[in-house]
Amino acid sequence: MKDKITMEKLVTFCKEYGFIYQGSEIYGGLANTWDYGPLGSRLKNNLKDAWRKRFIQERKNSFELDSSILMHPRVWEASGHIDSFSDPLIDCKECKTRHRVDKLITEFDSTVVADKMSPKKMIEYINSHKIPCPKCNKTHFTDIREFNLMFETYRGVTENNKSIIYLRPENAQGEYVNYLNVLRTMRTKIPFSVGQIGKAFRNEITPGNFTFRTIEFEQMEYQTFCKKGNDEELYKFYKEYAKKFYLDLGIPEQKLKYHDHDKLAHYAKAACDIFYEFPWGFDEINGTHNRTDYDLKRHQEYSGVSHEYLDLETNEKYIPYIIESTYGVDRSLLALLHNAYEEEKLENETRYVLHLHPFLAPYKLGILPLIKKQHSKKANELYESLSKHFMCSYDESGSIGKRYRRNDAAGTPYCLTVDDETINNNTVTIRDRDTMKQTVLKIDEIIPYIEERIKF
Ligand code: GAP
Repeated sequence: MKDKITMEKLVTFCKEYGFIYQGSEIYGGLANTWDYGPLGSRLKNNLKDAWRKRFIQERKNSFELDSSILMHPRVWEASGHIDSFSDPLIDCKECKTRHRVDKLITEFDSTVVADKMSPKKMIEYINSHKIPCPKCNKTHFTDIREFNLMFETYRGVTENNKSIIYLRPENAQGEYVNYLNVLRTMRTKIPFSVGQIGKAFRNEITPGNFTFRTIEFEQMEYQTFCKKGNDEELYKFYKEYAKKFYLDLGIPEQKLKYHDHDKLAHYAKAACDIFYEFPWGFDEINGTHNRTDYDLKRHQEYSGVSHEYLDLETNEKYIPYIIESTYGVDRSLLALLHNAYEEEKLENETRYVLHLHPFLAPYKLGILPLIKKQHSKKANELYESLSKHFMCSYDESGSIGKRYRRNDAAGTPYCLTVDDETINNNTVTIRDRDTMKQTVLKIDEIIPYIEERIKF
């Protein structure tokens, strides 16, 4: 049975093996920012490729977009973010720390649905239950203030209200403002989908549980434009498709659960998150939202440009509904890392191993000359030719056992050993990361053997 993996262990492991480092570490770090190292960035790219394959490549009428992070400020008025994208915050008058009020309440009593309460009710609840400050244990708070999560910046040289622009807090608006462009230039019809992968920024003030909640993060968002009446069926489809995506990437069913929203955003008809079982409990990694025709209606109103769709078969005109399927790249990756990590107790040692889906693994094949002096020339030749087909690593330092361990910790699904048999008989030994079993192959069998096993 696997030991319980704490976040502390995972953070240390990720740093040690080049997956994730603290942001700006040599300057003491910048809270809630993290840098992906060589293995982490490969893993992240592979996750994005898996998403691209499932959502863009394998779905008909599906298009990828790469829109700007900086958008016209009116976009955020139309979307409602300027008015209502905020968290209720409270300050402790004693130790001056700042807290999200809904979190303070749910951490005190997890059965209370705090985000349904009005600010007045929240403060009454805190006072009547004497909820203490998590830092200093006193109950002496300020009033609640709504704190907008959008990052502001200024365009040009003058810092005044007219020059304010925002770093996007979600990718979705990029898809919505390009709905007409994609419809026309791709000569497509409803239903069609537009997805994109990109950075989003939120001025989160609560501590983040490693990469779970950060101020800069990536989203893979996917919007399906459809006719009212088909929305419920598509919503159900994407809710299930999202779960299948995680299952296919190797997360077991029991570590995932749906969380249907009781409290809906003003524009939403239905919303459901997928929660993963993190060390602190189940928490959100994905969301499926039925956003109705709210977004396109708002952009029509604020831009003055018609967003009506004309169905050429029926001559009907309407504003499409949107079903959104959104994935946090960093959160999904954290769930995948947490799920894959194992400290396996062997007879005389502990083996740190990442049982990642081979498609996700940063390197697919580790190439190891058994004895540096005798086998490295042949191993280098193999590296040159095989790395044209998939990511390979090359390691000739230390004992073969140590090199296997380093590859296990990197999640490399296969290691290839070059020895005398390779030089004399053109065969190599391939070792499987999970079973540690070895198979002898002819050199020309290596590529099909690996390619077959790293598919997604
Ligand atoms: N367009 C809809 C939207 O942005 P959301 O639930 O606010 O919905 C979507 O965000 C996903 O983005 C979440 O499921 C989560 O995976 C990720 N996400 C949101 N805030 C985040 C943060 N501060 N840090 C890391 N990931 C975050």
